Amino acid sequence: MAEQLNKNSVVYDDEAIVAEFQAKRKLQIERDCAQPFDQQALLEVRHLRKCFPMKKTITGKVTKELVAVDDVSFKLYPGETLGIVGESGCGKTTTGRAILKLHEPSGGQIIFNGQDITHLKSKQMREIRKQMQIIFQDPYSSLPPRDTVGGILSEPVQVHNIVPKDQVKDYVLKLMDKCGLRDYYFERYPHEFSGGQRQRICIARALSVNPKLVICDEPVSALDVSIQAQIINLLKELQREMNLAYVFISHDLSVVKFISDKIGVMYLGGMMEFGTKEDIFKNPLHPYTKALFSAVPNPDPTAKMERIKLEGDIPSPANPPKGCRFHTRCPYAKEVCKHVPPEYKECEPGHFAACHLL
Ligand SMILES: Nc1ncnc2c1ncn2[C@@H]1O[C@H](COP(=O)(O)OP(=O)(O)OP(=O)(O)O)[C@@H](O)[C@H]1O
Ligand code: SF4
Ligand SMILES: [Mg+2]
Repeated sequence: MAEQLNKNSVVYDDEAIVAEFQAKRKLQIERDCAQPFDQQALLEVRHLRKCFPMKKTITGKVTKELVAVDDVSFKLYPGETLGIVGESGCGKTTTGRAILKLHEPSGGQIIFNGQDITHLKSKQMREIRKQMQIIFQDPYSSLPPRDTVGGILSEPVQVHNIVPKDQVKDYVLKLMDKCGLRDYYFERYPHEFSGGQRQRICIARALSVNPKLVICDEPVSALDVSIQAQIINLLKELQREMNLAYVFISHDLSVVKFISDKIGVMYLGGMMEFGTKEDIFKNPLHPYTKALFSAVPNPDPTAKMERIKLEGDIPSPANPPKGCRFHTRCPYAKEVCKHVPPEYKECEPGHFAACHLL
């Protein structure tokens, strides 16, 4: 794979490296996907991959594809929050949507509540969808404008038979109260509300069917800073009350730090590092995580702040760099990083990272 010419010079055969890496990964995926499910986990994602076709022949054969999510794995237990962070376009939303099967996964395995849902058809997903909900970034476009708040919240309750018909209104009013919405809002329309109130309506709608898992895709980024804290606190409160698990996608690392138990750091579709909040904030291992988190303000004035600035633009996911996908911007990149993809390995219990330095 790599030939040593003399002490300082090594020639890499990139094609052979890719072939060897892919063969090794295929074996590992087969082995991992054959493992028994973790019965305690609410969600187990194993080697998730999602590709979008970019070029097709006239017969419909895909000749080029964009790998939006590449080999992402993690476990989430009931009542936990997994924060997913990374720069724009790194595949956070696609990961969330693939878990819900709003995008059909191209590879890997999704196990929800002890059941492999990877290949379930939409009819079979109907019952499971009730337990997995999503809250979007933009509370303006995610509510139907012509329906009242009461109508919006009653619909999923009726469709999924959550309570008998004559109890739907009472159920919705209680839910509105839990989400900080006054009862007279029931007859009002979404356009009559501010962004924060609309996001509360979206949260109430997601929770109306008693889910176990909620994917929160940048749920506060479109809101004023003063409102963001209220919504985050509401999400935390509801999580405690309903034992909800969240996958919380965000650009805002301070918010992620506040809400998450575990954190996954993504770059160009791949998971660079995964661990508990303490692992990621106190002992980040991957150079990308270190750079990303060095920008988070530290409230301790005595703490030494070493800001690591990331140089250069994010490469196109349609044409990712060979070797380590972060090598074009990594301050520690060596020759080997340009050719050989690093292994994603468990560096300490529950703390994973992909870097040749580790
Ligand atoms: N439906 C689609 N068809 C083709 N490409 C897509 C599609 N959805 C996403 N992509 C591409 O997949 C990659 C990951 O996109 P994604 O929306 O998951 O990123 P993200 O991390 O959520 O970004 P942001 O922080 O900007 O929301 C991007 O390059 C995007 O252009
Ligand atoms: S493998 Fe190399 S390029 Fe990639 S993060 Fe580690 S040191 Fe940087
Ligand atoms: Mg997104």
